[in-house]
Amino acid sequence: MTIQILILGGTGEARRLAESLAGRGDVRVVTSLAGRTSAPQALAGEMRIGGFGGPDGLARYLQSEGIDLLIDATHPFAARMARNAAQAVAETGIALITLMRPAWQPVAGDDWRIVAGMAEAARMLGDRPRRVFLAIGRQEVGIFAGAPQHHYVVRSVESVEPGHMPPDAACILARGPFSEGDEIALLRQHRCDIVIAKNSGGGATYAKIAAARALGLPVIMIDRPKPTGVATVASVEEATRLIDRHFSGLSEKRGA
Ligand SMILES: NC(=O)c1ccc[n+]([C@@H]2O[C@H](COP(=O)([O-])OP(=O)(O)OC[C@H]3O[C@@H](n4cnc5c(N)ncnc54)[C@H](OP(=O)(O)O)[C@@H]3O)[C@@H](O)[C@H]2O)c1
Repeated sequence: MTIQILILGGTGEARRLAESLAGRGDVRVVTSLAGRTSAPQALAGEMRIGGFGGPDGLARYLQSEGIDLLIDATHPFAARMARNAAQAVAETGIALITLMRPAWQPVAGDDWRIVAGMAEAARMLGDRPRRVFLAIGRQEVGIFAGAPQHHYVVRSVESVEPGHMPPDAACILARGPFSEGDEIALLRQHRCDIVIAKNSGGGATYAKIAAARALGLPVIMIDRPKPTGVATVASVEEATRLIDRHFSGLSEKRGA
Protein backbone atom coordinates (compact mmCIF):
# COMPACT_ATOMS: atom_id res chain seq x y z
CA MET A 1 0.00 0.00 0.00
CA THR A 2 1.32 3.48 -0.90
CA ILE A 3 0.37 6.39 1.28
CA GLN A 4 0.22 9.84 -0.27
CA ILE A 5 1.52 12.72 1.81
CA LEU A 6 1.42 16.42 0.99
CA ILE A 7 3.85 18.61 2.93
CA LEU A 8 3.21 22.35 2.92
CA GLY A 9 6.83 23.48 2.95
CA GLY A 10 9.14 26.46 2.81
CA THR A 11 11.10 25.58 5.97
CA GLY A 12 14.13 23.51 6.93
CA GLU A 13 11.85 21.16 8.88
CA ALA A 14 9.73 20.49 5.77
CA ARG A 15 12.88 19.75 3.79
CA ARG A 16 14.19 17.31 6.43
CA LEU A 17 10.83 15.59 6.76
CA ALA A 18 10.58 15.12 2.97
CA GLU A 19 14.08 13.66 3.02
CA SER A 20 13.23 11.14 5.72
CA LEU A 21 9.93 10.11 4.07
CA ALA A 22 11.08 10.02 0.45
CA GLY A 23 13.42 7.11 1.16
CA ARG A 24 10.50 4.85 2.16
CA GLY A 25 8.98 2.57 -0.42
CA ASP A 26 5.45 2.89 1.00
CA VAL A 27 5.09 6.65 0.60
CA ARG A 28 4.57 9.17 -2.17
CA VAL A 29 5.64 12.53 -0.79
CA VAL A 30 4.93 15.86 -2.47
CA THR A 31 6.23 19.12 -1.00
CA SER A 32 4.41 22.30 -1.90
CA LEU A 33 6.14 25.68 -2.03
CA ALA A 34 4.46 29.05 -2.37
CA GLY A 35 6.92 30.15 -5.05
CA ARG A 36 8.35 33.14 -3.18
CA THR A 37 11.95 32.06 -3.84
CA SER A 38 13.03 32.17 -7.47
CA ALA A 39 15.58 29.33 -7.13
CA PRO A 40 14.37 26.98 -4.37
CA GLN A 41 16.84 24.44 -3.03
CA ALA A 42 16.39 20.87 -4.30
CA LEU A 43 13.96 18.71 -2.31
CA ALA A 44 13.62 14.96 -1.84
CA GLY A 45 10.44 13.50 -3.35
CA GLU A 46 8.16 15.50 -5.63
CA MET A 47 7.75 19.26 -5.56
CA ARG A 48 4.91 21.53 -6.69
CA ILE A 49 5.02 25.31 -6.70
CA GLY A 50 2.35 28.02 -6.30
CA GLY A 51 -0.80 28.72 -4.30
CA PHE A 52 -3.81 26.38 -4.44
CA GLY A 53 -6.41 29.14 -4.70
CA GLY A 54 -7.53 29.36 -1.06
CA PRO A 55 -8.89 26.62 1.22
CA ASP A 56 -11.33 25.30 -1.40
CA GLY A 57 -8.54 25.01 -3.97
CA LEU A 58 -6.43 23.12 -1.44
CA ALA A 59 -9.37 20.84 -0.61
CA ARG A 60 -9.83 20.10 -4.33
CA TYR A 61 -6.10 19.37 -4.73
CA LEU A 62 -6.11 17.00 -1.73
CA GLN A 63 -9.01 15.06 -3.19
CA SER A 64 -7.86 14.96 -6.80
CA GLU A 65 -4.36 13.78 -5.78
CA GLY A 66 -5.75 11.20 -3.34
CA ILE A 67 -3.78 12.66 -0.43
CA ASP A 68 -4.08 10.61 2.79
CA LEU A 69 -2.23 12.94 5.10
CA LEU A 70 -1.53 16.69 5.02
CA ILE A 71 1.44 18.05 6.93
CA ASP A 72 1.58 21.78 7.50
CA ALA A 73 5.29 22.43 7.96
CA THR A 74 5.14 26.06 6.84
CA HIS A 75 6.87 28.86 8.72
CA PRO A 76 5.24 29.89 12.03
CA PHE A 77 4.39 33.26 10.42
CA ALA A 78 2.61 31.71 7.41
CA ALA A 79 -0.74 32.27 9.13
CA ARG A 80 -2.97 32.28 6.07
CA MET A 81 -1.69 28.93 4.81
CA ALA A 82 -2.19 27.45 8.29
CA ARG A 83 -5.82 28.65 8.34
CA ASN A 84 -6.39 27.34 4.81
CA ALA A 85 -4.99 23.92 5.77
CA ALA A 86 -7.26 23.71 8.84
CA GLN A 87 -10.29 24.65 6.72
CA ALA A 88 -9.43 22.24 3.87
CA VAL A 89 -9.16 19.24 6.20
CA ALA A 90 -12.40 20.22 7.91
CA GLU A 91 -14.03 20.11 4.44
CA THR A 92 -12.43 16.83 3.29
CA GLY A 93 -11.92 14.84 6.50
CA ILE A 94 -8.25 14.28 5.61
CA ALA A 95 -5.85 14.07 8.57
CA LEU A 96 -3.62 17.07 9.32
CA ILE A 97 -0.40 17.27 11.30
CA THR A 98 1.09 20.69 12.02
CA LEU A 99 4.85 20.74 12.48
CA MET A 100 6.01 23.97 14.11
CA ARG A 101 9.27 24.67 15.88
CA PRO A 102 8.87 26.17 19.36
CA ALA A 103 9.13 29.93 19.78
CA TRP A 104 12.28 31.48 21.25
CA GLN A 105 12.05 32.44 24.90
CA PRO A 106 13.96 35.37 26.39
CA VAL A 107 16.91 34.46 28.61
CA ALA A 108 18.92 36.52 31.14
CA GLY A 109 20.54 39.48 29.39
CA ASP A 110 17.90 39.75 26.64
CA ASP A 111 16.12 43.08 26.24
CA TRP A 112 13.04 42.24 24.16
CA ARG A 113 10.10 44.48 23.43
CA ILE A 114 7.39 42.15 22.21
CA VAL A 115 4.91 43.49 19.62
CA ALA A 116 2.01 41.98 17.70
CA GLY A 117 3.03 43.02 14.18
CA MET A 118 5.25 45.07 11.89
CA ALA A 119 3.29 48.33 12.08
CA GLU A 120 3.64 48.29 15.87
CA ALA A 121 7.36 47.54 15.52
CA ALA A 122 7.80 50.53 13.20
CA ARG A 123 5.98 52.80 15.68
CA MET A 124 8.06 51.50 18.57
CA LEU A 125 11.24 52.75 16.89
CA GLY A 126 10.08 56.26 17.88
CA ASP A 127 10.96 59.66 16.46
CA ARG A 128 14.68 59.79 17.25
CA PRO A 129 16.68 58.41 14.28
CA ARG A 130 18.00 54.95 14.99
CA ARG A 131 20.18 52.42 13.19
CA VAL A 132 18.01 49.35 12.73
CA PHE A 133 18.94 45.80 11.76
CA LEU A 134 15.86 44.54 9.93
CA ALA A 135 15.94 40.77 9.42
CA ILE A 136 12.27 40.02 8.78
CA GLY A 137 12.30 38.66 5.22
CA ARG A 138 11.34 40.96 2.37
CA GLN A 139 7.57 40.98 2.23
CA GLU A 140 6.87 43.52 4.96
CA VAL A 141 9.90 45.79 4.62
CA GLY A 142 7.68 48.40 2.91
CA ILE A 143 6.01 49.19 6.25
CA PHE A 144 9.28 50.79 7.41
CA ALA A 145 9.23 53.25 4.51
CA GLY A 146 6.65 54.97 6.72
CA ALA A 147 9.37 55.60 9.34
CA PRO A 148 12.00 57.19 7.08
CA GLN A 149 13.92 58.95 9.88
CA HIS A 150 15.82 55.74 10.65
CA HIS A 151 18.73 54.07 8.90
CA TYR A 152 17.97 50.41 8.09
CA VAL A 153 20.22 47.47 7.36
CA VAL A 154 17.84 45.12 5.52
CA ARG A 155 18.87 41.49 5.18
CA SER A 156 16.83 39.06 3.07
CA VAL A 157 17.32 36.01 0.87
CA GLU A 158 15.90 37.75 -2.21
CA SER A 159 15.95 41.46 -3.09
CA VAL A 160 13.28 43.71 -1.70
CA GLU A 161 11.27 45.49 -4.40
CA PRO A 162 12.98 48.86 -4.85
CA GLY A 163 9.72 50.76 -4.28
CA HIS A 164 9.35 49.11 -0.84
CA MET A 165 12.75 50.12 0.52
CA PRO A 166 12.95 52.85 3.17
CA PRO A 167 14.92 55.82 1.78
CA ASP A 168 17.98 55.35 4.02
CA ALA A 169 18.77 51.65 3.79
CA ALA A 170 21.64 49.27 3.14
CA CYS A 171 20.72 45.93 1.54
CA ILE A 172 22.32 42.61 2.34
CA LEU A 173 21.34 39.47 0.43
CA ALA A 174 22.14 36.31 2.40
CA ARG A 175 20.60 32.99 3.38
CA GLY A 176 21.12 31.58 6.90
CA PRO A 177 22.25 29.87 9.00
CA PHE A 178 24.43 32.64 10.44
CA SER A 179 26.98 32.41 13.25
CA GLU A 180 26.84 34.59 16.36
CA GLY A 181 30.36 35.90 15.66
CA ASP A 182 29.36 37.01 12.14
CA GLU A 183 26.18 38.65 13.44
CA ILE A 184 28.15 40.59 16.08
CA ALA A 185 30.60 41.75 13.39
CA LEU A 186 27.71 42.82 11.12
CA LEU A 187 25.91 44.76 13.87
CA ARG A 188 29.18 46.50 14.80
CA GLN A 189 30.14 47.25 11.21
CA HIS A 190 26.80 48.97 10.56
CA ARG A 191 26.67 50.55 14.06
CA CYS A 192 23.16 49.15 14.59
CA ASP A 193 21.54 50.14 17.89
CA ILE A 194 18.38 48.00 17.65
CA VAL A 195 17.28 44.73 16.01
CA ILE A 196 13.83 43.85 14.66
CA ALA A 197 13.06 40.15 14.31
CA LYS A 198 10.16 37.72 14.01
CA ASN A 199 9.97 35.07 16.72
CA SER A 200 10.66 32.33 14.17
CA GLY A 201 12.21 29.86 16.61
CA GLY A 202 14.84 27.30 15.61
CA GLY A 203 18.59 27.56 15.33
CA ALA A 204 19.14 28.85 11.79
CA THR A 205 18.38 32.53 12.52
CA TYR A 206 18.85 32.69 16.29
CA ALA A 207 22.42 34.07 16.09
CA LYS A 208 21.19 37.65 15.61
CA ILE A 209 19.27 37.40 18.90
CA ALA A 210 22.34 36.06 20.73
CA ALA A 211 24.44 38.78 19.08
CA ALA A 212 22.05 41.52 20.24
CA ARG A 213 22.26 40.10 23.77
CA ALA A 214 26.07 40.03 23.63
CA LEU A 215 26.18 43.67 22.51
CA GLY A 216 23.47 44.82 24.95
CA LEU A 217 21.11 45.85 22.12
CA PRO A 218 17.32 45.83 22.41
CA VAL A 219 15.29 43.55 20.13
CA ILE A 220 11.80 44.41 18.94
CA MET A 221 10.40 40.89 18.73
CA ILE A 222 7.35 40.27 16.55
CA ASP A 223 5.13 37.77 18.31
CA ARG A 224 3.71 34.77 16.43
CA PRO A 225 0.27 34.85 14.85
CA LYS A 226 -2.53 33.22 16.82
CA PRO A 227 -2.53 29.39 16.64
CA THR A 228 -5.28 27.80 14.54
CA GLY A 229 -6.20 25.27 17.24
CA VAL A 230 -4.76 22.32 15.29
CA ALA A 231 -2.59 20.00 17.43
CA THR A 232 1.06 20.73 16.82
CA VAL A 233 4.28 18.72 16.96
CA ALA A 234 7.57 20.51 17.52
CA SER A 235 10.13 18.40 15.67
CA VAL A 236 10.66 16.30 12.55
CA GLU A 237 11.21 13.25 14.78
CA GLU A 238 7.87 13.77 16.56
CA ALA A 239 6.13 14.27 13.22
CA THR A 240 7.67 11.04 11.90
CA ARG A 241 6.40 9.10 14.93
CA LEU A 242 2.91 10.48 14.44
CA ILE A 243 3.01 9.69 10.72
CA ASP A 244 3.99 6.07 11.54
CA ARG A 245 1.01 5.81 13.89
CA HIS A 246 -1.21 7.23 11.18
CA PHE A 247 0.20 4.68 8.71
CA SER A 248 -0.62 1.70 10.90
CA GLY A 249 -4.16 3.03 11.36
CA LEU A 250 -4.60 3.44 7.60
CA SER A 251 -3.08 0.02 6.81
CA GLU A 252 -5.47 -1.65 9.25
CA LYS A 253 -8.43 0.22 7.74
CA ARG A 254 -7.45 -0.83 4.22
CA GLY A 255 -6.69 -4.38 5.33
CA ALA A 256 -3.11 -4.21 4.05
N1 LIG B 1 6.17 34.32 6.63
C1 LIG B 1 7.46 34.12 6.89
O1 LIG B 1 8.09 34.83 7.72
C2 LIG B 1 8.21 33.01 6.20
C3 LIG B 1 9.56 32.80 6.49
C4 LIG B 1 10.24 31.75 5.88
C5 LIG B 1 9.60 30.94 4.98
N2 LIG B 1 8.28 31.17 4.70
C6 LIG B 1 7.63 30.27 3.73
O2 LIG B 1 7.21 31.07 2.63
C7 LIG B 1 5.97 30.58 2.12
C8 LIG B 1 4.95 31.70 2.08
O3 LIG B 1 4.81 32.21 3.39
P1 LIG B 1 3.74 33.38 3.68
O4 LIG B 1 4.01 33.88 5.05
O5 LIG B 1 3.69 34.32 2.51
O6 LIG B 1 2.40 32.50 3.71
P2 LIG B 1 0.90 32.95 3.99
O7 LIG B 1 0.82 34.44 4.10
O8 LIG B 1 0.36 32.14 5.10
O9 LIG B 1 0.18 32.44 2.67
C9 LIG B 1 -0.26 33.28 1.63
C10 LIG B 1 -0.66 32.42 0.47
O10 LIG B 1 0.49 31.84 -0.15
C11 LIG B 1 0.20 30.52 -0.58
N3 LIG B 1 1.08 29.60 0.13
C12 LIG B 1 1.71 29.78 1.32
N4 LIG B 1 2.47 28.73 1.63
C13 LIG B 1 2.32 27.85 0.61
C14 LIG B 1 2.87 26.56 0.33
N5 LIG B 1 3.74 25.97 1.16
N6 LIG B 1 2.48 25.94 -0.83
C15 LIG B 1 1.59 26.55 -1.69
N7 LIG B 1 1.07 27.77 -1.46
C16 LIG B 1 1.43 28.41 -0.35
C17 LIG B 1 -1.27 30.28 -0.28
O11 LIG B 1 -1.97 30.68 -1.45
P3 LIG B 1 -3.39 30.04 -1.83
O12 LIG B 1 -4.38 30.63 -0.85
O13 LIG B 1 -3.59 30.46 -3.24
O14 LIG B 1 -3.27 28.55 -1.67
C18 LIG B 1 -1.53 31.23 0.86
O15 LIG B 1 -2.87 31.62 0.99
C19 LIG B 1 5.58 29.40 2.99
O16 LIG B 1 5.99 28.22 2.32
C20 LIG B 1 6.39 29.59 4.27
O17 LIG B 1 6.70 28.36 4.90
C21 LIG B 1 7.56 32.18 5.29
